[in-house]
Amino acid sequence: MTSADAGSATVDWEALREVARDAMTRAYAPYSGYRVGVAARVDDGRIISGCNVENASYGISLCAECGLVSQLHNSGGGRLTHFTCVDGRGEILVPCGRCRQLLFEFGGPDLLLETPAGILPLSEMLPQAFGPGHLTQ
Ligand code: THU
Repeated sequence: MTSADAGSATVDWEALREVARDAMTRAYAPYSGYRVGVAARVDDGRIISGCNVENASYGISLCAECGLVSQLHNSGGGRLTHFTCVDGRGEILVPCGRCRQLLFEFGGPDLLLETPAGILPLSEMLPQAFGPGHLTQ
């Protein structure tokens, strides 16, 4: 994926998954032992990623998606178009419920997710989502 892809709606899922696997190797998961890596394409073509970062106070541990949305904004903002998530074996993983909500904020219902059941829009993974639009109704 190069700058030539900017603005295009296509993505190399295998390449995106490799970015997620690379991020997963940097996970900090000493408590669960469960490493997670995520990667996404932004609508300007750039690729961002994240890994989970746990804490001795277990409940405040950060999912990999938290790092990803932080990187989204810290690298220029934009909208997520394609997303993938892998576990510690590098296998495709579904994002947890809270993280689906995080993704909805920045990708909306049409964000494409790579899941164990195939490529699905976020609208199928988080039906009837609450989102920014509700606050302006
Ligand atoms: N985890 C993520 O990073 N993202 C998800 O979507 C699912 C769960 C992390 C949180 C915790 O560090 C570990 O996986 C075990 O729950």
